[in-house]
Amino acid sequence: MNGKIAPSMMCADITKLKETLDIFERCSIDYLHIDVMDGCFVPNLQIGVDFIKQLRQHSNIPLDIHLMITAPEHKLDWFDIQEDEYVSVHYESTNHVQRVLTGIKQKGARTMLALNPATPLVNIEDCLPDVDAVLLMTVNPGYAGQQLVPQSLEKISRLRKLLDNTGYTNIEIEVDGNVSFENAKKMRQSGADIFVAGSSSVFRKDMTLDNAISELRINIV
Ligand code: DX5
Ligand code: ZN
Repeated sequence: MNGKIAPSMMCADITKLKETLDIFERCSIDYLHIDVMDGCFVPNLQIGVDFIKQLRQHSNIPLDIHLMITAPEHKLDWFDIQEDEYVSVHYESTNHVQRVLTGIKQKGARTMLALNPATPLVNIEDCLPDVDAVLLMTVNPGYAGQQLVPQSLEKISRLRKLLDNTGYTNIEIEVDGNVSFENAKKMRQSGADIFVAGSSSVFRKDMTLDNAISELRINIV
């Protein structure tokens, strides 16, 4: 199966939001990536719960909700999580990762465990029975437009091997941060499945959305 595309909605032009969503539907985009930032776990504030609810009303594309918030175990109910959605929780954001993953599952959604660039893969081994995907941050979370943390390419390969060797071949790997066309190709070769597309690809200022999506697709076959 080809790689999946999840455009990062914090990079979208809000003055053209409906037009953007219509293009994404026409292009069969897989997920809308929603960065939720609380100014505490990461040094920025991003997409709020009411905006997320409106996005669901204007698009049929399932959401991929990336929670970059402290104590997510107390906040899952805020999001009106739907069954076809992915919800990711950061390993570093709570002492109760397994509880949060179980909470997401109980809502019928797909679980994703997110790791910052400096967090070792060994930390996730005991969570693998509870996850549908692992999100590897390839920049430090908080901002669009950053440069790739170089060692993250090799980390994708190590994760893919870990998943294959432990029998979790169905767990998907999502990559988030500086997923440029060039980096996406290397990430795909390293074993990534879902590509968060922000200012480095789909939302590049020098290309139309259609052209940027086509170019990204070529690199994640
Ligand atoms: C943070 C965000 C950013 C960003 C991705 O979780 O998802 O990483 O929007 O897009 P780039 O890095 O290409 O601007
Ligand atoms: Zn994200």
